[in-house]
Amino acid sequence: MSIALIILAAGKGTRMKSDLPKVLHEIGGAPMLVHAVQAGRTLDPDHAVIVAGHGADAVAAAMRDDDPAVRIVLQTDQLGTAHAVAQARPELEGYEGDALVLYGDTPFIRPETLRRMADARRAHDIVVLGFEAADPGRYGRLVVSGGTLERIVEFKDATPTEQAITLCNSGVVMASAPVLFDLIAQVGNDNASGEYYLTDIVGLARAQGLSATAVTCAEVETMGINSRAELSVAEAAFQARRRAEALENGVTLVAPDTVHFAHDTYLGRDCLIEPNVIFGPGVTIETGARIRAFSHLEGCHVARGAIVGPYARLRPGTELAEDTRIGNFVEVKQALIGEGTKVNHLSYIGDAEIGRDSNIGAGTITCNYDGVMKHQTRIGDRVFIGSDTMLVAPVSVGDDAMTGSGSVITRDVAPGALAIARAPQVDKPGLARKLLDMLRARKAQRDKERG
Ligand code: UD1
Ligand code: CA
Repeated sequence: MSIALIILAAGKGTRMKSDLPKVLHEIGGAPMLVHAVQAGRTLDPDHAVIVAGHGADAVAAAMRDDDPAVRIVLQTDQLGTAHAVAQARPELEGYEGDALVLYGDTPFIRPETLRRMADARRAHDIVVLGFEAADPGRYGRLVVSGGTLERIVEFKDATPTEQAITLCNSGVVMASAPVLFDLIAQVGNDNASGEYYLTDIVGLARAQGLSATAVTCAEVETMGINSRAELSVAEAAFQARRRAEALENGVTLVAPDTVHFAHDTYLGRDCLIEPNVIFGPGVTIETGARIRAFSHLEGCHVARGAIVGPYARLRPGTELAEDTRIGNFVEVKQALIGEGTKVNHLSYIGDAEIGRDSNIGAGTITCNYDGVMKHQTRIGDRVFIGSDTMLVAPVSVGDDAMTGSGSVITRDVAPGALAIARAPQVDKPGLARKLLDMLRARKAQRDKERG
């Protein structure tokens, strides 16, 4: 079956009170629109067309980053959901496959649900996704008789009997693209809102002898987001789902409610995640790694057996090989840390490459930034970097080399060499005692003068 996605995203989202188009507000670190597209993408579509309006340039830019194959069409005036779908028609000219209409502000539709709709499409011309609403409110109502969906009536246009129906319209619709566009061309706007309703296609289809049915899903899947309060509820629902999935996949979460996931967090089997860990976008943690409490990770790859934290920060471009140790108050950015290497305390490692089985002493800093440009630090295998070493990049330290504690390393260190770059120690016998006596006497004199 070939499918084209049409994702409606032209609405203003006034209730968000935001300069950002509503569909670009993020859930799990990705725009809600990306979540909607990703759900549709599980059907392996041939086309994906987004109907944008308010903030269309920002929407186009965000989607180009996500997937350059997605096309954007403009709906200048928001005249209703049928009018919105009609804007996708030129992009799908000559396309004979199915069209699936999704909403950009409804990010939680499950792939299984879409597959059930695709299955139902084998037997019906039009498939609508409905749900039993706890509070049907202003949703469109599905009028079903004898298993057939006869029409959809918008709340504003419904009779009291129709308003009592609790089976509601999610907005998700699937039909063959030529049939969909043909029906949409017949939709008028003679209704309570003066809008072109996509929902009218069901009644029009039935009048022409086409069949229609409703597939239902849990109400949470159809959650639409219109305000910041709803966005926070959506974020919580997303996090709950990801935590449950992680547990299900064999990850230990010591305190699940305190771990925050991004849309693309990947945790291998037997990972152990301690409390209060935050995953930003782009994190992969392999089997058996342990992320200790209060760590913050984004854009990084952590290999098997590594231990990170507590209180560690892994920033984009961090690559930890197997059995590495990143300890408390260590920040790593754009760096490769080789197998078995330890950076255990209070360090900054940025724009660096460290070999295997090296030990980076407490308080070490790769001084990667000269105020204008970033420079690279290279450290070999089995290197011992003494505590509080400043590595002024660009600089390299060869295999089996050492640096003395407190060194400021500004030149390359040869393999096997010991580099010490600090002022030599000077001892003055008895001077400390003399100095303190003098200072105490000075204080006593001053206290006396002040009375
Ligand atoms: C719509 C449905 C209603 C359903 C509800 C589910 C219609 C007529 N009604 O109502 O049956 O219960 O969704 O949430 O379809 N949009 C555009 N361009 C437009 C109009 C809307 O892109 O001209 C987009 C919006 O940005 C939004 C989506 O379509 O993402 C739905 O539009 P909205 O105005 O929220 O529809 P509802 O009135 O809620
Ligand atoms: Ca709505």
